[in-house]
Amino acid sequence: MSAKKKKDHVVIFDTTLRDGEQCPGASMVLAEKLQVARQLARLRVDIIEAGFPIASPGDFEAVHAVATELAGTAAKRRRSPSICGLARCVSGDIDRAAEALEPADHKGRIHVFLATSAIHREHKLKMAKSKIIETVVKSVSHAKSYVEDVQFSPEDAARTEHPFLVEVVQAAVDAGATTINIPDTVGYAVPEEFGACIAHLKEHVKGIDKVVIHVHCHNDLGLAVSNSLNAICHGARGVECTINGIGERAGNCSLEEVVMALRTRSDFFNLDTQVKTEEIFRTSRLVSQMTGLHVQRNKAIVGANAFAHEAGIHQDGMLKDRTTYEIMRPEDVGISGTELVLGKHSGRHAFGDHMKKLGFDLADQQLEKSYDAFIALADRKKHIYDDDLVAIMQNQMDMATAVYTLEYLHVATGNSTVPTATVRLKKGDEEMQDAACGDGPVDAALKTIERITGIQGKLLDFSLQAVTRGKDALGEVSVQVDFGDQTITGKGSSTDIVEAGARAYLNCINRHISARKPKGKKKTRRKAS
Ligand code: KIV
Ligand code: ZN
Repeated sequence: MSAKKKKDHVVIFDTTLRDGEQCPGASMVLAEKLQVARQLARLRVDIIEAGFPIASPGDFEAVHAVATELAGTAAKRRRSPSICGLARCVSGDIDRAAEALEPADHKGRIHVFLATSAIHREHKLKMAKSKIIETVVKSVSHAKSYVEDVQFSPEDAARTEHPFLVEVVQAAVDAGATTINIPDTVGYAVPEEFGACIAHLKEHVKGIDKVVIHVHCHNDLGLAVSNSLNAICHGARGVECTINGIGERAGNCSLEEVVMALRTRSDFFNLDTQVKTEEIFRTSRLVSQMTGLHVQRNKAIVGANAFAHEAGIHQDGMLKDRTTYEIMRPEDVGISGTELVLGKHSGRHAFGDHMKKLGFDLADQQLEKSYDAFIALADRKKHIYDDDLVAIMQNQMDMATAVYTLEYLHVATGNSTVPTATVRLKKGDEEMQDAACGDGPVDAALKTIERITGIQGKLLDFSLQAVTRGKDALGEVSVQVDFGDQTITGKGSSTDIVEAGARAYLNCINRHISARKPKGKKKTRRKAS
């Protein structure tokens, strides 16, 4: 009898807070990023890329705060994820990343990247191959002077000539990189070709077996998950991915898809991850609420329809034996079907305990405020679900940093009435009230908010989604607003959709005010793909 070969571990490197957050309109404030990071830790990802510290003070703060909370006092937190900060191959970037990662102790990773493809060398960098190699060696060594764990990415590797890719990777390995990440930056690769690239590196780079190969695939052709899986088949042992596959353009490899593919088809891959898959659905909902990016209904694993069997023939088969049409159980990804949690008569203690389970450890004052918001919601809505509680917390977090808060909203509308809104906002101790007419009740409310704040934006997108089921469900509105110098996404929720829209718009205005630099300077943000 032959013993079954032990499964190899695939490292799950989550970049929701870095590459995912670069998705237009997905930016999160610090409290939201911390909440997502805590949930990623509960999901048991191996590494959290928390930001690009040189890019903006907000990114620096995020990496620093996540490192402080999740990776500090590492000895006590053996199971906690490592925290990673991104840097270009520029010494100032690396210094800033190291500074942000200081609290992470030995759980900090610096990720340096430099483009290597001919297109990038000639048009973007205007750098000769020899200069690229020299810069990579210098940067990896510099990062190494701060942390043991250094990752190097040859940006646009998938379009880089193999001989040069081997040369660059060899130089990075020799300089001490512990992880080599191979990005398909523009989502151009196809699975066979991408797998062959990994096999080529495994064959030609000396000492490659001593480092971990990651892959980082973008989804422009819808192939990010397939490319990642094929790379794994050819020797990669780390996947860089984001929750719900969010990211620039068509997004990044989706964490939930790759993890569930490895788990569901372990007969094929014989590999495992340490992800606690039962936390997947909750993480997906949290990221969707924190970013305002709704998940499409038919999205694999986490879409509302992912486990819904409509066709009669399927339902019949499922009743006879669920494996006829079901390859994964909803409970494996944390969809229990019994998420009804609290009601009007639940006390503070039960509420606080349940919030803790959801990852919100509330201090006394926060607990009081959130409990009041919960009771107010329970008065308007019979059943309260986990998603409602996350929405309450989202509103609370927004209010904690808000310049303007919504105190009062009244709209008059109808098919023979000019839609009119009266709004009262509070700024510090000052209360301001005004009224305006509009094309509809939402338009009237937004115009009134603009009159009071003196800030006008162009509404690019307005989308509404029910947070939970039922006619009394909370409506979650996500809006995208162009303020001329920046585009911002905001969210708001309420059982009243006009109020949800007004809250979302006000949230954008508040974010716009906080993001504005003093003296009206344009906010600049460096980008990595
Ligand atoms: O897509 C990409 O190339 C990146 C690198 C910074 C790894 O995000
Ligand atoms: Zn990327």
